[in-house]
Amino acid sequence: MVSCKSIYEPREDSTMLEKYVRQYSKGRVLDVGTGSGIQAIAAAQNKNVISVLATDVQKGVIDYCKKCIKNKKIKFLQSDLFKNIRGKFDTVIFNPPYLPQELKLKDLTIEAGKKGYEVIEKFLDNANIFLKSDGIILMVFSSLTKKEKVEEFIKNNLLDFEELEKQHIFFEDIHVYLLRKNELLKKLESQKITNIEYLTKGHRGLLYTGLHQHKKIAIKTKNPKSTAFGRIENEAKWLKKLNKCKIGSKLIFFDKDYLVYEYIDGDFIIDYVKKSNKHSIKKIIKKIFNELFILDKLKIDKEEMHHPLKHIIISKNKPFLIDFERTHFSQNPKNVTQFCQFLINSQLNQILKDKKMQISRQKIIQLAKVYKNSQNKENFEKILKQT
Ligand SMILES: C[S@@+](CC[C@H](N)C(=O)[O-])C[C@H]1O[C@@H](n2cnc3c(N)ncnc32)[C@H](O)[C@@H]1O
Repeated sequence: MVSCKSIYEPREDSTMLEKYVRQYSKGRVLDVGTGSGIQAIAAAQNKNVISVLATDVQKGVIDYCKKCIKNKKIKFLQSDLFKNIRGKFDTVIFNPPYLPQELKLKDLTIEAGKKGYEVIEKFLDNANIFLKSDGIILMVFSSLTKKEKVEEFIKNNLLDFEELEKQHIFFEDIHVYLLRKNELLKKLESQKITNIEYLTKGHRGLLYTGLHQHKKIAIKTKNPKSTAFGRIENEAKWLKKLNKCKIGSKLIFFDKDYLVYEYIDGDFIIDYVKKSNKHSIKKIIKKIFNELFILDKLKIDKEEMHHPLKHIIISKNKPFLIDFERTHFSQNPKNVTQFCQFLINSQLNQILKDKKMQISRQKIIQLAKVYKNSQNKENFEKILKQT
C-alpha cells in the first residue's frame, strides 16, 4: 500500500525549480529525490531530454510514481542519493530535504540531519562523479539550510554556481541555483583522473582524492581563501627533489594550480602511537629522525616539525612526511631539533609514558642543544640512542 504521507506535495520550492528544469534540462537526466515526480515530468517534456532516471530514498515514493506516472522517457529507482546510480548524466536535479532534525518531525521529505544541510553536503560531495564534463546541476534550497554553507560545499567540490532565482516566501528565502564543473575540475578530469572527491581543507590548500591509472591519488589545490603565494609550485619542487631520497609520497604530476601525488592510506602520528606497541613506535621514531637528518644535511627546512600532527602519516610501518608547502633552503635547518621538541611535548609524552616508554626531557633538551650547534652524525646518533 502506498502511503501518501511519504509523497512531498509540490510547494513553491518545487514550482520554482520546475520552471528551470523545463528550460535547462538536456540529454540524460537524473532527478534525485523525485517525490511526486514533478521535476522528472517537467524534464521529460523538454525535447532535448533523452531519458530521465527518477530516484527517491523512500520505497513508498517509488511505488507511487511507478503506479501513477506513465511516461516512456522516465524510469524510477529507489536509491539513497547516488548509492544505486551508475553512469554519468547531462542534467542532475535535486530539491533536497532541508530542515534541521531538531524539529523531530521524522519526515524524510523535509528533514535533513542535525543541521539541515547534511543531505545537500553529501549530495554535493558525490555529484561530480555522476555529472558529465559539460553537465549541469539544478537545485533549490532554502535560507533555513544556510546559504553560506551550501556555497562552501559547492566551491569545495570544484563547482561554479549561478543564482537563477530568489524568492522570499513567508519566513524564508528560496534560491534556485545552476551549477557546473569549474575549469580546474575539467582540467583534472582531462588528465584522466576520475572519482574526484573533496577530502579536507588546510590553511593553504584543499585536498581531494581521485583515481588515476587504477590507483588512489591525492590532489592538492590552492585554498582560495589563502593569500599565500606559489605554495603549490613550492611543494611540487621539493617533493620532486625529496622523492629522489625516498622522502614524501610519490609526486605524479602537477601544474601551477594543482599537485597530484600518491595517496597514503595510514594514520597520523598520534593515532599511530596510540594504537601501536613499544617496539613499533621506537622503530618509527628512528625512521622519522633518519629522514629529518637527511633534510638537515641537505640544508632543507621542512618547517612545522615541532607540531607535526598532520605532517606525518604512518603506512605499512613506514613514515611519510607530507605537506612541503613551506619547505625552503636554510643555513640552519631545524627538522631534527623540532622533532625533539615534539617528542617531549605533553600530549605525546603522556601517551609514551602510558606505554612505559620514558624519554628523558632533560637529556633530549641537552642533546638537541649540542646537535643544534653542530649538526653532525655523532651528535645525531646520541639523540637516536635516547629515544
Ligand atoms: C523536498 S522533497 C522534493 C520532491 C520533489 N522533487 C519536488 O521538487 O517537489 C525531497 C525528496 O527527497 C527525498 N529524499 C530525502 N533524502 C533522500 C536521499 N538521501 N536520497 C534520495 N532521496 C531523498 C524525499 O523522500 C523527498 O521525496
